[in-house]
Amino acid sequence: MANIHIPKAWENKSLKPTGEETYLNRRRLIKDLGILSAGLLSGSALLSCEKEERQNPVTVIREPNDFIFDGMETFYPATRNSDFSIDRPLSEEIDATGYNNFYEFNAPGDPDIKAIHQYVDFFDTRDWTIEVSGLTEMPGTYHLGDLIQQFGVEERLYRHRCVETWAMAVPWTGFPMSTLIDFLQPKETATHILMKTANRPEEMPGISYQTWWPWPYTEALELGEARNEVTFIATGLYGKPLLKQNGAPIRLVVPWKYGFKSIKSIVSIEFVNSQPATFWNATVPQEYGFVANVDPGVPHPRWSQASETDISTGERRNTLKYNGYGEQVAHLYE
Ligand code: MTE
Repeated sequence: MANIHIPKAWENKSLKPTGEETYLNRRRLIKDLGILSAGLLSGSALLSCEKEERQNPVTVIREPNDFIFDGMETFYPATRNSDFSIDRPLSEEIDATGYNNFYEFNAPGDPDIKAIHQYVDFFDTRDWTIEVSGLTEMPGTYHLGDLIQQFGVEERLYRHRCVETWAMAVPWTGFPMSTLIDFLQPKETATHILMKTANRPEEMPGISYQTWWPWPYTEALELGEARNEVTFIATGLYGKPLLKQNGAPIRLVVPWKYGFKSIKSIVSIEFVNSQPATFWNATVPQEYGFVANVDPGVPHPRWSQASETDISTGERRNTLKYNGYGEQVAHLYE
């Protein structure tokens, strides 16, 4: 795509899986700090992404731990791809980075989604690798820095709609998932792509105390959905590398689906030949479907999906079918 930023030095670099010794040497400064706690089961164990209340504005702090690879900063901000603009103002950065849903960081005694950013400091995102397996010609362990340098990054403005009816509009930085899939060459028998989030109880307080959930967090797409031009792999937000609360250093963005499909902090990708079990769909199937397309005509069992609330302005407006991406994705479901 014309707007993708690819530094010249890396243009001819052939991408190879990272050697085992590199990823086994991954630094873990805080492994034994003991942030584990035996917290109690919170009253409501169901998915909640409410962002309506705006309290105590947060200061966004970047930790040294945000380092991923040398030269990462040269990729941000990336050139905006004008094919992916939107019809509404962007949300405030402080809202998108201060009110998050990331169950792995629900702290014992403080499961408030507005507090997620306070519990991410121990999460080590450096030297991030992604394990690729299953029905692919290119299995292996890939360093995120190599992927970004190989594919380049661009900025896209996307709507973002939670199943619990809040909505925002944000500028993601990253690369199309189709670029990654083309590189990984799934075998003809592959039908779905399954992704997993890091599962590190020692760094993620929500995992160590919410023992009733089937960790790690998993999500999946049918391969046609994954290859759609809109499906994006984000490594940045608001012109900077992703903050941990938003899924650093790499996450999925599928804006025509409810937010829970957009899995954060991805450590593995597996190509499979049937629809796999996923975190929310397996746990609460009556509330969270596998496909989970935004649809004003299909109510959630406990509330209507006909309208949504803008996270920054509080404006209530009608929900758009496929969250406004029908032109690009409706054909997938005909
Ligand atoms: N990914 C992981 N690993 N864990 C989560 O709890 N929450 C999902 C999704 N990805 C979640 C996740 C939900 S419900 C939503 S609405 C979005 O992340 C929220 O993304 P945001 O915090 O960047 O707005």
